[in-house]
Amino acid sequence: MSTPELADKYLMQTGRRLPVTFVRGRGCLVYDDAGNEYLDLVAGIAVNLLGHAHPEVAAAVAQQAKTLIHTSNLYFSQPQVELARRLVELSFPSRVFFCNSGAEANETAIKLARKWGARNRDGAFQIITTLGSFHGRTLATVTAGGQPKYSDPFKPLPDGFMHVPYNDLDAIRAATSARTVAVMLEPVMGEIGIVPAKPGYIAGVRKWCDEKGMLLMLDEVQTGLGRTGRWFAFQHHGVTPDVMTLAKGLGGGVPIAACLASPKADVFEPGDHGSTFGGNPLACAAALAVLHVIDRDGLVGHAAEMGEVLHGAIHGLGVKEVRGIGLMQAMEFAEPRAKAFQQACLDARLVVNAVDDHSIRFVPPLIVTAQQIDQAQHTMQEVLK
Ligand SMILES: Cc1ncc(COP(=O)(O)O)c(C=O)c1O
Repeated sequence: MSTPELADKYLMQTGRRLPVTFVRGRGCLVYDDAGNEYLDLVAGIAVNLLGHAHPEVAAAVAQQAKTLIHTSNLYFSQPQVELARRLVELSFPSRVFFCNSGAEANETAIKLARKWGARNRDGAFQIITTLGSFHGRTLATVTAGGQPKYSDPFKPLPDGFMHVPYNDLDAIRAATSARTVAVMLEPVMGEIGIVPAKPGYIAGVRKWCDEKGMLLMLDEVQTGLGRTGRWFAFQHHGVTPDVMTLAKGLGGGVPIAACLASPKADVFEPGDHGSTFGGNPLACAAALAVLHVIDRDGLVGHAAEMGEVLHGAIHGLGVKEVRGIGLMQAMEFAEPRAKAFQQACLDARLVVNAVDDHSIRFVPPLIVTAQQIDQAQHTMQEVLK
């Protein structure tokens, strides 16, 4: 049986896969089981910050695997405390909880907000999030996300989430009540096709949260770690959050996620939360290698620069709209042709991501070069013909 046939027989059918089986990669290139080479501008959905098979990540993982893979959080772990320290140094004064996925990091944030509300705000527990946002697929995070198509099949949903339009501070003001404990936002909405926060929006929400005694929780699962041309997207807005979540790129492809909480929001006590695998030595070794290479090779600045090159390249295709910041860009077609375009690009050995019928998302590795972007533009021009 072929891999697609085996997948059909043995895997739950939770999503539609494109007809390709990748078997190896190197940098921004990835190869299928017939040996064809593709230029990858999706990077495992904004995950492989250093591309595929980065030698230093591979070496760090191999070394850690030969030393100690897992011990659980019953004991101290050197790679874990080192990684926590590094993340705090790079972001804002806080403490870190490690887990394994973006959903779990956001679930952690939600639990933190509820405990914080019980302790400081007379049991306030409601969290305001935005329409079109995506925060994960656990029951609470899928409810937090503002896309009913993902949550409706699983009703009844947990209580305590209100959805308002993105980039609309007045809507947040109007939705706030004595029961509201936090606002949870993506600094750039990713899954819905790259919608960046307008200037002043995040800072305005920060101010409103301070006035009302609410937590500002930023979901930087997709925006974090250099993708937007800063280490974290909040750094574009001149404010810091109370809680921030990270996942995707943190381990360069090895599953690891984190929830950072400022001293004010850090209300967990022993027994409140946990994760068997969270922050295990193997995943932390991978993440430490990723952060080291991003820093040493100046990849945050490179992402800002390549983001402009990518933006210009997509703009040159003459589509309806181009949106984005850094290496998080999208283009929108006037007609519903994104899925066909994605397939045609794949046939032409270019990996791009159709987020819906109209929009294509580009979230390449941070190491992408101007020459590779040029090559991608040429392929897309041919496809559009
Ligand atoms: C902003 C954001 N938050 C959370 C998630 C969920 O992350 P995960 O799939 O690792 O659970 C995603 C995934 O796409 C995301 O983009």
